[in-house]
Amino acid sequence: MHPSSNTNLFLFTLCICSLCPCLASVYHTTLLQESAQFHADVAMKASLLALLLPAVSARSVNLAGDQQRPITNDEAVLATYHIELSPGNTRWVTENEKWALRREGINFFDITDHPDFGATLNAVIAAGPPKKKVVFPKKPAYQDIVKPLLANLSKSHLEKNLEKFTSFHTRYYKSDWGRQSSEWLLGKVQETIKEAGAEKYVTAKHFKHPWGQNSIIATIPGKTNQTVVIGAHQDSINLFLPSVLAAPGADDDGSGTVTILEALRVILQSKDIVKGKHPNTLEFHWYSAEEGGLLGSQAIFSAYEKDRRDVKAMLQQDMTGFITRTIEAGLPESVGVIVDFVDPNLTEFIKKIITEYCNIPFVETKCGYACSDHASASKAGYPSAFVIESAFEHSDNHIHTTNDLIKYLSFDHMIQHVKLTLAFAYELAFADFPALEKGK
Ligand SMILES: *[C@@H]1O[C@H](CO)[C@@H](O)[C@H](O)[C@H]1NC(C)=O
Ligand SMILES: *[C@@H]1O[C@H](CO)[C@@H](O)[C@H](O)[C@H]1NC(C)=O
Ligand SMILES: *[C@@H]1O[C@H](CO)[C@@H](O)[C@H](O)[C@H]1NC(C)=O
Repeated sequence: MHPSSNTNLFLFTLCICSLCPCLASVYHTTLLQESAQFHADVAMKASLLALLLPAVSARSVNLAGDQQRPITNDEAVLATYHIELSPGNTRWVTENEKWALRREGINFFDITDHPDFGATLNAVIAAGPPKKKVVFPKKPAYQDIVKPLLANLSKSHLEKNLEKFTSFHTRYYKSDWGRQSSEWLLGKVQETIKEAGAEKYVTAKHFKHPWGQNSIIATIPGKTNQTVVIGAHQDSINLFLPSVLAAPGADDDGSGTVTILEALRVILQSKDIVKGKHPNTLEFHWYSAEEGGLLGSQAIFSAYEKDRRDVKAMLQQDMTGFITRTIEAGLPESVGVIVDFVDPNLTEFIKKIITEYCNIPFVETKCGYACSDHASASKAGYPSAFVIESAFEHSDNHIHTTNDLIKYLSFDHMIQHVKLTLAFAYELAFADFPALEKGK
């Protein structure tokens, strides 16, 4: 979106680092050095510089008519992002303010480029008879096929893919590394399809974005355009200096990325799925720019909304590998089923999937408004759900830093997430939604 301003900021920050040895050392290092004080200093200097950047001031024009709150002239130049913190609660912020909110654990949609997202849905609701609600199966029905498939899931695929994926310095969506990691991931998804002998039927493509790192969509066509979506986000971020510091993002969301990739690899071992015998189309999405305020998933789901795409269900996997704090709290290893801002009936179905196919139980938990990409599906009017590695309060505390590393993760736990993802995808690929909606 502002690639030039980003590059300038990057060069500028390197410049500060080379002038001042104490700041320079930061580039090479650790969590401790990502201290708030350091960040405040650099952020202040970066903000001053940002005043001089041409690309940034372009958006200030938008502010002239903004009635949300009074802003000073300085703020007006910098406040180029419009964010939504809860339904209808929006404000204009600078990029630094975005990261400051995220460091406080506050999530939001960045709606700058999608001010009308959700509007088609609202117009439809206002104009006509209520949109038919999606009805989900009462219980899992394909155990005989799904269970043997689950036996073929492999931890070594997860490990190998995650090692490669975390080897990019960062997967920050506006960085060239983020672009490269997305190219690698698309290649990997295409190779997976090819190895399954499915390239005649199954496709994987970039969904392009202006900021550099593209989203990826793999499609397994079924007999109809009724669609079931499995999602994860591919970008990572270091919330202290996104353009400079490393962000391995092993758990957030490298783990979800390789989790759904492994589910794709193994579901393609089903000949029926490859040949499209299932009634509903399956899509696997790897979103760009989740960390920037759900940018990639908003672009995709607002396009789907405009095209009146018939999405029956969407499941997000964001952080699937960390269990240490659950175990330390003396609690059983579990899958965390998010119960706020999700479709309750889809969520009930997912609990049944976990009980049937996983070796560990689930725990209900909450993560607030706009906490991951399922929120974009939900804004478009599609039933969505989210499953995370544990109860939210015990989830990985290394994320968004240089220390979000593989060494803290459990691949056995990730396998549980792959199981539920694959089972969910298979069961809903074969669900007879029209019959279910008629109460059959
Ligand atoms: C599991 O994978 C092996 C090869 O790795 C294959 O021969 C077998 O058919 C697969 N099982 C299922 C249920 O697809
Ligand atoms: C699915 O959608 C595509 C594009 O909108 C259309 O060409 C195709 O006919 C649809 N297929 C079915 C089975 O409805
Ligand atoms: C959930 O299912 C119940 C019936 O079991 C239905 O009355 C309700 O409207 C559904 N809710 C949503 C959000 O679809």
